[in-house]
Amino acid sequence: MKCRDCQNQKTVFYKLSNATPLDVLRQISENNDMTAITDTSAGNQTPSDAATAKPATAHACAAPLHGSVTMAGDKSISHRALILSAMATGTSHITGLLEGTDVLATGQAMQQLGAKMTRHGEGAWEVSGVGTGGLRQPDAPLDFGNAGTGVRLVMGVVAGAGIEAEFIGDASLSVRPMARVTIPLAQMGAQIRSNEKGTLPIHLAGPPVPMPIDYELPIASAQVKSAILLAGVNAPGKTTIRETPITRDHSENLLALFGAPIDQRLEGDQHIVTLTGEAQLTATDIAVPGDPSSAAFPMVAALCVPGSDIVLKNIMLNPQRDGLIRVLRQMGGQIDILEERQQAGERVADLRVRYSTLQAVTVEADMAPSMIDEYPALAMAAACAHGTSHMFGLHELRVKESDRLSAIADGLRANGVTLIEGEDDLQITGCGDGRVAGGASIETRHDHRIAMSFLVLGLTSTAPICVDDTTMIDTSFPSFFALMQDLGVDFER
Ligand code: S3P
Repeated sequence: MKCRDCQNQKTVFYKLSNATPLDVLRQISENNDMTAITDTSAGNQTPSDAATAKPATAHACAAPLHGSVTMAGDKSISHRALILSAMATGTSHITGLLEGTDVLATGQAMQQLGAKMTRHGEGAWEVSGVGTGGLRQPDAPLDFGNAGTGVRLVMGVVAGAGIEAEFIGDASLSVRPMARVTIPLAQMGAQIRSNEKGTLPIHLAGPPVPMPIDYELPIASAQVKSAILLAGVNAPGKTTIRETPITRDHSENLLALFGAPIDQRLEGDQHIVTLTGEAQLTATDIAVPGDPSSAAFPMVAALCVPGSDIVLKNIMLNPQRDGLIRVLRQMGGQIDILEERQQAGERVADLRVRYSTLQAVTVEADMAPSMIDEYPALAMAAACAHGTSHMFGLHELRVKESDRLSAIADGLRANGVTLIEGEDDLQITGCGDGRVAGGASIETRHDHRIAMSFLVLGLTSTAPICVDDTTMIDTSFPSFFALMQDLGVDFER
């Protein structure tokens, strides 16, 4: 039975986010202005229901989670693989690309800038790059839908390419802060036109020759670091970024893989990255490892549903991304790391996750960059743990796809969990041996991770938990429902 609030619900839809990834592919390949993209895998495109929200309800699991599943490609690496392949000279082959709508929006934008992309099957893409300096001016705005990573990184690309473009996005992306990226790009010579809040839509014109800068990040953000590095590819001289603490380093690793002269070092607790331009990027092949941020949901589900024992295969364990695994283990979570290997310059492993009695944990602010997208999932684990967990340094959660700190707090409160929401921190008192009451409908605020988190919590709550819309899950984890089903979980939809 669905929660009352979720029945017959309508919601606001966004241009890209209401489509399945394959709809987006079709949309792209039908557009004569972008004939470069070709979907060569026949017959698997389905039309989407564009006008209706898709609520879902999670009931307490009747049986433990079991089985072994392979995680889809990492979103951060997928964005960067498409961008760098498009900027490189030659043809790159990408396998395991995440075909979420966020990544597809980035692919569409890079084609508008001149790259050619062909899809050869699920996650298998061939990208013919234009070479650094070969990007062309787009003849239509670049629409990033819900994709914060896509829009911020491609602003860096455009700033470095001596071209201009209009950047637009959906309602959520259009209220997210962009000055964090446009300020350093303006220092490199880009001209920016936007509203007084500095949010989308933004018109950005790159200078004929970008200036290299030496920039200390005022906030811990891999997106800002990456935008500057991507602009720096064409800047003659040394572009330097200083950050404390270190954020995810996928751009650095992939730039090196594409042959850019890039150097990383630690001075005390400061991470310093220097890219020497103008850099030539050479096409390469990339096997994208599985996304630890998406793995968070089945992982927390298995830890919290009694008797569960699952294997999540192909998980990237980059030290700037594995914070949640470290914290869950500290809570007593039985997570075994199996079959460690290297893939695309990253440490990858399979994870065996078993039901565990979780204890409360204190998570200090310095952990945030290594698990920034995982707090919604961690909050659900904390709600099932014994004792009161305390998480610090959460201010960046307020400017994600939604104000995640308040979305987590409101949703947990409505489902009977005791908590204190601070400006920058969160205390959650877990139900210990009991169960979370549940029974409430969650406003997902069009946030994929809020939707998946509360669906996971509903698997162990006394009364079902309903989420008002699941369409946004396609932005990052289009195979979420299928993968959970493979582990024995059926959500009511
Ligand atoms: C990302 C960086 C993080 C993260 C986002 C992906 C990236 O954002 O929240 O989902 O791929 O660089 P910030 O750089 O704003 O912290």
